[in-house]
Amino acid sequence: LPDESGVVTLDACIMDGVGHRAGSVAFLRNIRNPISVARKVMDTTRHVLLAGDGALQFARQNGFPEQDLLTDAARQRWLEWKRGLNPNDNLLDQSHDTVTMLCLDRAGNLAGACSTSGLAMKIHGRVGDSPILGAGLYLDNQVGAAGATGVGELVLRTLASFTVVEFMRQGMRPSEACRAAFERMCEKIPEARHPQEALIAIDKRGEVGCATNTGDFTFYYGDGERVQRTKPTPIA
Ligand code: GLY
Repeated sequence: LPDESGVVTLDACIMDGVGHRAGSVAFLRNIRNPISVARKVMDTTRHVLLAGDGALQFARQNGFPEQDLLTDAARQRWLEWKRGLNPNDNLLDQSHDTVTMLCLDRAGNLAGACSTSGLAMKIHGRVGDSPILGAGLYLDNQVGAAGATGVGELVLRTLASFTVVEFMRQGMRPSEACRAAFERMCEKIPEARHPQEALIAIDKRGEVGCATNTGDFTFYYGDGERVQRTKPTPIA
């Protein structure tokens, strides 16, 4: 879904536990798979984060095709939103479409990725948690990996993924760590109990966990042979 100007802008980041490497892009337009551009940043540059026109120029130089990402359905949603706009609208109530993925390979190495068009109808120029290491995604190859989805402002203000990994470092299991980070977020920002939020984690042994305050998110867990779908009970 687009921002308030009707423009689709994308954020993404990727991390590789081997070498603690990372790449990310923010406020990127017209490129269908921002995560692939983030990977290119990680694999081929000395930088971590490219944003806006510079990220687009980098994508073009690396052969990524450009296309208009505003689908007819998304344009309709945007037009309806504009028609119904009123000054009391809470922008944080708009939906978003973040996908966060954490992986552990057979050699015991972790990787993670997070990709999104961000909060729908956001202010043009807004960047969320997804391209920011420690917020939308974080991992430490000796400990575990964590990622977030939901309203990025709350995740950014509490560096939620970093917090989950640090809780696991202190000995918490992934689900406990997600819950504790969620509670930390709600303690610092009481309204965090309301807008959609979710945290996921995997530890170095492959145990997974999650915490969410809504039944709206679906979580998938795959072990290489089969994929299980779960809808965890929301934190009250
Ligand atoms: N979590 C995605 C965003 O708020 O942009």
